[in-house]
Amino acid sequence: MNEQIKVTDATPIKTLPDAQTVLDVEHYTDRLFRFRVTRPQTLRFRSGEFVMIGLMGDPDPKTGRQKPLLRAYSIASPSWDDELEFYSIKVQDGPLTSKLQHIQPGDQIILRPKPVGTLVHDALLPGKRLWFFSTGTGFAPFASLLRDPQTYEDYDQIIVTHTCREVAELTYSKNLIQNLHEDEMMQELLGDGLKKLVYYPTTTREDSPKMGRITDLLENGTLFRDLGIDGLSAETDRAMVCGSMGLNLDIKRILEGHGLREGANSEPAEYVVEKAFVG
Ligand code: A2P
Repeated sequence: MNEQIKVTDATPIKTLPDAQTVLDVEHYTDRLFRFRVTRPQTLRFRSGEFVMIGLMGDPDPKTGRQKPLLRAYSIASPSWDDELEFYSIKVQDGPLTSKLQHIQPGDQIILRPKPVGTLVHDALLPGKRLWFFSTGTGFAPFASLLRDPQTYEDYDQIIVTHTCREVAELTYSKNLIQNLHEDEMMQELLGDGLKKLVYYPTTTREDSPKMGRITDLLENGTLFRDLGIDGLSAETDRAMVCGSMGLNLDIKRILEGHGLREGANSEPAEYVVEKAFVG
């Protein structure tokens, strides 16, 4: 009897009700990777939302029991996709990502099917131009929204900024934007895609065509000059922000300086913010 209980306690995760199967893994740098998993048939979410995902933790040395190790992850795939994509940092001594970085196709992860989040179209009032400001893995929710037709139906122009330390850390966003421009299904939505969807990548610690924190480029006017835009206005501009705490606070201050107010699901306004989650 006791033996049986022990076996049940150490049940491999594939028997958990929230287990999903890894389909594909792509590593970009020693700090970043992306993976795709099966989507639970019952999971409905709005592009830009996040869920809790993870793995079983190490067995407790005394009891041998394992507990799920879960972290919040933005879903990087759009709401219409049959599969779920995630974009993750690898932290070598991070409780979850030190293990998660080793997943292979066929492995199982835990996914709690309760999506939430404020980086959704519903939390913004109608506008003309939509800005996505991101650093590092904060690009993930925008990878979802950029592949959602509603983004292009609701706005005349979408400007995506992504700031990373090094050039290689921009690969995920660069590939995604390139794929959107080349995707025949997107052509109709994007129209003259080069104008409707603008990608503005910057690096801070390695030479690239555009260097500097996006906050500095906003405040010193470089961003507006580069894009031929007069500035931000509460009438026309809407923004979603996802990055480090520092970025979020600095951008909030800048956006509010231009008269934009923070929105929420319950009270839509001109901009919304979410912390990029680190596993
Ligand atoms: P920096 O190199 O100047 O710190 P991280 O890898 O630490 O998450 O950072 C990702 C990117 O976000 C880096 O390019 C970093 O620039 C930038 N960053 C960090 N804090 C801020 C901030 N307060 N405002 C704008 N960008 C920031």
